[in-house]
Formats: sequence, structure tokens, C-alpha cells
Amino acid sequence: MILVTGVSGALGGSVLAGLRAQPDLEVVAGSSSGDGDTVRRLDFDDPATLESGLRGVDLLVFVSAGYAEDDVVIARHGALIAAATAAGVRHVIYTSLSASAHHTSIAVPHLWTERQLAASPFAVTVLRNGFYSELTTGLAAGAVESAAATGIFAAPFGTGRISGVSRRDLADVAVRVAAEIERDLRAGAVSAHAGRTYELEGVASVDGAEIAELLSEYLGRPVEYRDVSLTDLRIGLLGSDLEPYRIGHSVSLFANLKAGFLHAAGGDLPALLPTAPRPIREEIAAALSGAAVPE
Ligand SMILES: NC(=O)c1ccc[n+]([C@@H]2O[C@H](COP(=O)([O-])OP(=O)(O)OC[C@H]3O[C@@H](n4cnc5c(N)ncnc54)[C@H](OP(=O)(O)O)[C@@H]3O)[C@@H](O)[C@H]2O)c1
Repeated sequence: MILVTGVSGALGGSVLAGLRAQPDLEVVAGSSSGDGDTVRRLDFDDPATLESGLRGVDLLVFVSAGYAEDDVVIARHGALIAAATAAGVRHVIYTSLSASAHHTSIAVPHLWTERQLAASPFAVTVLRNGFYSELTTGLAAGAVESAAATGIFAAPFGTGRISGVSRRDLADVAVRVAAEIERDLRAGAVSAHAGRTYELEGVASVDGAEIAELLSEYLGRPVEYRDVSLTDLRIGLLGSDLEPYRIGHSVSLFANLKAGFLHAAGGDLPALLPTAPRPIREEIAAALSGAAVPE
């Protein structure tokens, strides 16, 4: 039996739907807000829910539970790994972070988790997800109003490029890998995915000037890219209502972007996807066409 954690989230929800579309697989859902009936309650912050929530599970699709300070995320992930060990789970798939992002502060709990998993008694497959293209599409869509008013797209990209991968592509890979592992487990075979770490980097990237160009095409007027310094970024974020941990992560992410680290090369995504990866420029254009047209 497969259990997918975090099914109220975008990634966990898509993975669950993809696995449930395959009638030969037995798939159960887990969520911190599970009702204990149709969705098992697996709240990583409440270890008492975990061991019983994992009863009968052979394959655990462990969706990372970020969006908190690193020590909180590490405690969450540690609790799930301990419970999976105690419950006798045979194989864990973990959604981690791609190598191009390993200099960002966001990587810390992911790398800690990978290390703990490697020392655990079950088989492990790591899906190192690249930065979602949704991060860049959100940035572009959020800039429409100011670009329309000023003719400028201001962002802390420097001359760096950011690769992006669609969350839907990442879900498709997770579904494929999980289905293949589960069928191998049932057949008593050793999965070819056991012990593997897949780098699911985005295959295409954009820079600030290209986002300005897409904004310009969408608005039908010239839009120029202008860099923002990390100092100005930090001051702006400190004046916002963003949670404190997000400020550190955002500055770290853009420092890496400016340094050129977020432009990925290569990776396992095309080999694991049945179709070509969704291109980031088209995703940005689609997000802009869904954005409100300013008066
Ligand atoms: N690669 C990237 O660019 C990128 C970007 C953002 C985030 N991420 C990571 O990828 C994960 C999935 O992304 P997403 O877009 O699906 O996130 P999302 O839609 O914002 O969902 C948040 C996820 O965190 C889970 N979660 C939060 N608190 C939890 C708890 N106490 N116990 C168990 N699960 C908990 C949620 O599950 P339930 O509410 O169902 O329990 C849900 O799966 C994130 O949690 C984050 O670690 C990656």
C-alpha cells in the first residue's frame, strides 16, 4: 500500500490524484488535517499521529513539509522518519531540493533529511525537485501593475538566470516512480529506483530582461528590466508582513540567483517524464494572460 503525505498541498494533492488514477494500486492519503476516515491524519508536528497513520504502508511518498523555521522542519521530518522506521515501511520516496539550490538556506533541512533517510533501514529514492516555475510566474504576474504604471520590471536578479520546473511535471515524475516501486514491491523485486537520487532541475531558464520582455508583450508597451540590490530587497522585506524566516530564505535565494547558481544544467527530468517538460517562458506567458489587466 502507498501512502502520500501532505495531500492538502499542491504537490501532494497532484501525486495522490495521479496514483489514484491507476486502478491496480492501493493508495491512501495523509494530511496534517486528515479526518482519520477518508484521509489519514499524519501531522508531522504531532508524532502521536504518525505511527498509527503509517499502519500497513509499504511505500511512503514523503512530501517535504516546509514553510517554517529550519529547526521546526527538521523536527517534523525527523519525527516522520522515526515513525516510518517503527512502522516497518519498506521504501520511502522523499521530495527534496535540486543540487543547483544547495547554496540557498532553503536546502538545509532537505540535506539534513536526506542524511537521516540514508541511515534508515528502509530503501530510499530521493526526488530532488528544482525550483518551481510557479515562483517565477508569480513574480511576473505580481509585477504587472507596477510595470504598467512605470514601464519597469524591478527585481533582484542581477544578470542571473533562474531555471524553473513545473510542479505538474514534478508530480508526474513522482507518480511514475512511486507506481513502479510499488509494483516491484508487490512482485518481491528490488526496484531499480532504490538508492537513486534524481535531479529534477528545470530544463529552461529566464533572466530579468526576458521577464521584462514577456511583460512588455503582454502589456503592449515597452518594459525595461532594472536590478534591485540585496540591501534594498532586505529593507523592503523587513517592512513587509512576511514571516521572519521567509525574509532570510528570500534574500538567500536572490543572492544565489545573482551569483548565477540557480541556472541549472542537465538533470533527470526529461528521462523520467513521458512528455517534454513544460517550458518556463510559456508558463510565464500563461500566468500573465490570467493576470488582471490594469486600467
Ligand atoms: N521546489 C520548490 O520550488 C519548492 C517551493 C516551495 C515549497 N517547496 C517544498 O515542497 C513542499 C510541497 O510543495 P507544495 O507546493 O505542494 O506546498 P503547499 O501547497 O504550500 O503545501 C504545503 C505542504 O506542507 C505540508 N505540511 C505543512 N505542515 C505539515 C505538518 N505539520 N505535517 C505534515 N505536512 C505538513 C502540507 O500538507 P498537509 O497540510 O496536507 O498536512 C502540504 O503538503 C513544500 O512543503 C515545501 O517543503 C518546494
